[in-house]
Order: sequence, then C-alpha cells, then structure tokens
Amino acid sequence: MYKNMNSLSFSPPAPTTLDGFKRRVSYLRVSLTDRCNLRCRYCMPLNGIEFFKKEEILSLNELKRLLRIFKSLGVTKIRFTGGEPLLRTDLPEIIREAVLLGVEDISLTTNALLLFSQLEKCVAAGLKRINISLDTLRQDRFLKITGVKGLESVLNGIYRSLELGLNPVKINVVVMREWNLDEIPDFVRLAQESPLEVRFLELMPTANNFEGTAGVSLDSFVPIAEIKDCVKKVVVLNKEEEYLGVAKVFSLVNGKGKIGFISPVSNHFCESCNRIRLTARGELKSCLHGSDLIDLRTPLKAGASDQEISSLIQQALLFKPEEHFIRPTHFQSQSLRMSQVGG
Ligand code: GTP
Ligand code: 5AD
Ligand code: SF4
Repeated sequence: MYKNMNSLSFSPPAPTTLDGFKRRVSYLRVSLTDRCNLRCRYCMPLNGIEFFKKEEILSLNELKRLLRIFKSLGVTKIRFTGGEPLLRTDLPEIIREAVLLGVEDISLTTNALLLFSQLEKCVAAGLKRINISLDTLRQDRFLKITGVKGLESVLNGIYRSLELGLNPVKINVVVMREWNLDEIPDFVRLAQESPLEVRFLELMPTANNFEGTAGVSLDSFVPIAEIKDCVKKVVVLNKEEEYLGVAKVFSLVNGKGKIGFISPVSNHFCESCNRIRLTARGELKSCLHGSDLIDLRTPLKAGASDQEISSLIQQALLFKPEEHFIRPTHFQSQSLRMSQVGG
C-alpha cells in the first residue's frame, strides 16, 4: 500500500525545515488515534475498517518526545486530529505538553461528540481554539451520514466551546450534493447568529472510495464556486480577509460570525503548503495525498537519538511533493485514508 522509506540513512540534520521546493514546514498535524466514534459515509468504508493495533499506537511518552523534536525543528503550529482525538483520554496531557514546549498555535479538529464533557480539561491544559466537523443540522441526516444519533451532543459541544471562550471556533462542513447542499442557507444562518467561522469544504476523494464508501463520488462533489453562489444568495460577504491558511474567509455584513471556503480540489493551495502529518503509529506523511510514509516509531524504540530522528524528518521533507494531482477531472486518490491521517 505505502512505499516504505526506512532505508534512508542517518546523517546530521541541516539547520533548516525547508522542503525540496523551499516551502518552510512549520505546521504539524498529529493524528492521535485512527479510531472514531462516528462512521461518516465519506470517510469509513461501508464494509468496516481495520484499526491499528493498540500496541502500535504512539504512547504518551513517545508522543511527547516527538513533539519536542518537531518543535526544535521549527514547528510553530500543531493540530491534533484523529480519527477522533477526544477518544484519547490523555489528550489534555498531550495539549499541556505542547503548551509547555512553547508551541505558538495549538488546536484540535474534532467531531465534538464527546466535547461537552471533555472540553473543560482541554481548556485547563491550554487549548484556545477548535475546529469542529459538522455536515448537517438535521437529526435524521446526521444519523444517515454518521451512523450515530449525535447532533444534539455536537451542538452542545459547539456552544460549550463558545461559552468557555475558545476563539476562533470553526465549523467544517463537507458539502455533498445529495446530502447537504440544500443546507447551505441553514449553515449561513448559524454563522449569522453565532460568532462561529463556518467553513464549506470541497469533498476530497479518498482511498476508501474504492472500498464501497457510500455517497462519495464525483456526483457528490460540489465545486467551491457553486457553493459560494449558494452562500451569496442568502448573505452579503465583506471583503475577503487576509489569506492565512487553506480557507478564504469573509466576515458578514449582517452577522456575528464568518464564512470560509476551502477548495482542495478545484483550486488547491499546494504552492504555499507548510504542513506535515504524523499518524497515530508514528509515521510521518509529507503530503496529505502522497503515498510515502516514514516510520519514526521504530527508530525511536530502537534507541535513536533526537538528532537521528530529526535527520529522518528532514530527509522526509525532501520527498514532499510539489503538488497533488486531484482535480474535478481527476477525482481519485489511491492513498488517502482520511481516518488514519485526520485531514
Ligand atoms: P486552521 O488552522 O484553523 O486553518 O485549520 P485547518 O483548516 O488547517 O484544519 P482542519 O483540520 O480544520 O482542516 C480543514 C480541511 O482542510 C480538511 O478537509 C482538511 O483535510 C483540509 N486540509 C488541511 N490541510 C490540507 C492539506 O495540506 N492539503 C489538502 N489538500 N487539504 C488539507
Ligand atoms: N473531503 C473533505 N474533507 C474531509 N474531511 C474528512 N473527510 C473529508 C473528505 N473526503 C474533513 C472532516 C474534518 C477535516 C479534518 O476533514 O470533516 O473536519
Ligand atoms: Fe500540501 Fe500535499 Fe496538501 Fe498540497 S496536497 S496542500 S502539498 S499536503
């Protein structure tokens, strides 16, 4: 499935975190577990998914050490993802470690099912902002899309995030033609009524699509241009904010929140990519859509020094592709298993 690049040799690290195309890599996305308490149709194959074995998952101490090494290499932003990161009971401790290391920007992407009860501990640990995945505001659809009756819990988690002062609170809505395109006005209303940044995401193809994942195909894909037209029918957008990440963000002429658009398929943002990813098994993935994985956990367990691990990471950066080739006309991915990478 994945090309293994562990044949790379150890050599002293060069004092840089530039990739082969001179992009500075400063944003680490850490998948804390591949398990999830939802079964979103576009993410998990209908015929089930094999999870990593418990003993394969990075331990708290291994994670802490890797975070320290990434920080020393120039990582300034860390996002914890999954699967569902709240399934890790040591999440507050992991967040705390990132805070103690002095990481400037620490965030979480979650489905928020468990958020209401667990958020306080995360905030006490130092969490200041959060991104929440939510594709529908209708109970019956939530059940159909995710397989779980959980809309109320998610909404409670969202409002708890606002109550506890997290800022920003972003809502990720993956738009699918047959599932939720008609709900764009409802999501816009949510952004008008609450200080939330509601972001509409283009559906990306994943490797799971080839294993019977339902509801996801080019027929489901809606380009951002079309999504934006739907939004503009119900709200007036202010001038676009300065472009800081993957989303193009607009405040509203009449409303408390903001609207964002993320277009990984129709207009990708690879030339300014500053990200790398760590899987829950301790593999480094230099591109979301790439197939290369570098195993950091085996050398870690075998006693590699921090410098040797740093060197492996830096060599991996040189393999980061210039761009991905997913387009509306090439809606295919052989390698992206979203629940193992966390987006
Ligand atoms: P912010 O720091 O709040 O801007 O978060 P983010 O947008 O980086 O993270 P989030 O986890 O909310 O991801 C939003 C969407 O962007 C998800 O669909 C991700 O899969 C997608 N995304 C994030 N990073 C990349 C990337 O490097 N390449 C591509 N193609 N999509 C990405
Ligand atoms: N296409 C686009 N976004 C996706 N996400 C999960 N799968 C896909 C996909 N196939 C989103 C989740 C989460 C973010 C990390 O990625 O909804 O908010
Ligand atoms: Fe970055 Fe690769 Fe994503 Fe492009 S596809 S934005 S290069 S991770």
